[in-house]
Amino acid sequence: MIKISPSMLSADASNLGEGLLQLERCGADWAHIDVMDGVFVPNITIGQHVVRALRPVSDMPFDVHLMIVNPIKHVPDFLSAGSDMITLHVETTEDVEKSLTVIKDGGAKAGLSLNPGTPIDSIMPYLDMLDLVLIMSVQPGFGGQSFQEHCLDKISAIRNVVDERKLAVDISVDGGINRGTGRRCVEAGASVLAAGSSLFGAEDMAEEIKLWKGFSRTG
Ligand code: DX5
Ligand code: ZN
Repeated sequence: MIKISPSMLSADASNLGEGLLQLERCGADWAHIDVMDGVFVPNITIGQHVVRALRPVSDMPFDVHLMIVNPIKHVPDFLSAGSDMITLHVETTEDVEKSLTVIKDGGAKAGLSLNPGTPIDSIMPYLDMLDLVLIMSVQPGFGGQSFQEHCLDKISAIRNVVDERKLAVDISVDGGINRGTGRRCVEAGASVLAAGSSLFGAEDMAEEIKLWKGFSRTG
């Protein structure tokens, strides 16, 4: 079944604990936590301090998306803060293998993300080491942007390789996901949908999540 990872970026920032409990009540699988540094991306969001504060609130797996330069420097803090999955950007990571090893040795799952303009060849050498590939379908930095259609081809291309090589890697897509684009991403081969504005803005988040979880490869 498709996993849904609502982005805390769209939760009420003055009450993130309640946002986390809301997505748990609504049947989400993971909580997607967007960490931005104002350097790799133009926006600044939250850091390890907030992840640590949220940890006792819920047992939901924390799907932490690091949009920061020199991520390896901060990985130990995010591990000790209680991250279950840590995803780095291939554009910011100097020694990808070493960084993924640090994450895994720290007991978390390891992900690698790529921007809409970054070719998939950049992540292919690391596929065997990954638990998650996070395909950005908007330029990272802000919620509420429109889905970039060409990313569907990237999803299918990665899905083909993952299936051919029988790898146990999740393919997640992040940015501009709603019930229409989400369905098409799943048909293209995504197994996880990360979404902020369309889930937190939904009339009924639980119903929306239920609908999305029912999407399948065959439509
Ligand atoms: C974008 C973040 C996304 C973002 C998604 O930089 O990585 O996770 O919150 O928000 P929506 O779903 O509104 O595009
Ligand atoms: Zn994200």
